Amino acid sequence: MLRRPRRNRQSAAIRNMVQETHLNVSNLVYPLFLEDGRNIKVEISSLPGVYRFSLDKLLKEIESCVKLGLHSFILFPKVKGNLKDSKGSYGWDEKNFYLKAARKIKSKFPDICLISDVALDPYNSDGHDGFVKNGKIDNDLTLPLLQRMSLAQANAGFDILGPSDMMDGRIGAIRTELDKNGLKDTGIMSYTAKYASAYYGPFRDALDSAPVKNKEIPKDKKTYQMNPANSREALIEATLDTQEGADYLMVKPALNYLDIISLLKTNFDLPIAAYHVSGECAMLIAACQNGWLDYNVAMPETLLSIHRAGADVILTYFAKDYAKLVKKL
Ligand code: PBG
Repeated sequence: MLRRPRRNRQSAAIRNMVQETHLNVSNLVYPLFLEDGRNIKVEISSLPGVYRFSLDKLLKEIESCVKLGLHSFILFPKVKGNLKDSKGSYGWDEKNFYLKAARKIKSKFPDICLISDVALDPYNSDGHDGFVKNGKIDNDLTLPLLQRMSLAQANAGFDILGPSDMMDGRIGAIRTELDKNGLKDTGIMSYTAKYASAYYGPFRDALDSAPVKNKEIPKDKKTYQMNPANSREALIEATLDTQEGADYLMVKPALNYLDIISLLKTNFDLPIAAYHVSGECAMLIAACQNGWLDYNVAMPETLLSIHRAGADVILTYFAKDYAKLVKKL
């Protein structure tokens, strides 16, 4: 045998020398759940180890992450039922606690990167990402609502907006609105290829944001989120988002869609993000809690595989644990 690949695996020094992919904490984005009030820290029952915080507690959480070298966050609000309506108008309300929180966070931690969520669902009494009219999600009536939400978020100081709604034309609509208002530096991380996935369950539990159960309203998001069977369609979405001015292209979920991450990485020059979603993290946590997998080995392997597939940026509930692992805490 002239070729013995095992020679390059003989020692840690050699293995490390030939290692192709390295995942840095700076590649990770940590999702945070915010709720109105004070002194709140509630664990998400379907996502153990992940919490919903009130702003006072959230600021402390961010501080502890920053100390670990974690500097990027994506923030999601849990909105009380009585503030929801069919247009999601609380999304741009002056009194909106999410917008106020963003201002406070950015004034306390000006150097972090704070990403928003743009979609109607946290604020929508129908529980959909778009405006529901006559039992349908109306794409074009949703766009001006997303523009208003985006403008309010950009003015609140978010560095990057994250449109997660999958309406056609929203990236262009948002970019135009931001530029018209002098917000040229606010970035857009588009949820480009967001699939209609079963793996968003714990997230919807955390925010109480699932589509409402009512015969008149579509019970799932399949008319706007992508069919898990399709990959070429992701190229159409990515082409449009690129033309419309997105700064990042995101694939979501991550693990069942590593091929899509790789496809976009090969075909587009924008940074590729992957959202390692709540259900994907929950599965691994559950197996580890049962003693079936070793968290400190399986977790970094999982994140590394997403990076290896081509994701420059990974949004993951494991970001803080990964940062601790790297620091050997
Ligand atoms: C909603 C949104 C969802 C997630 C991020 N933004 C859920 C959905 O589309 O219903 C899911 C994230 C996760 O599961 O971790 N606009």
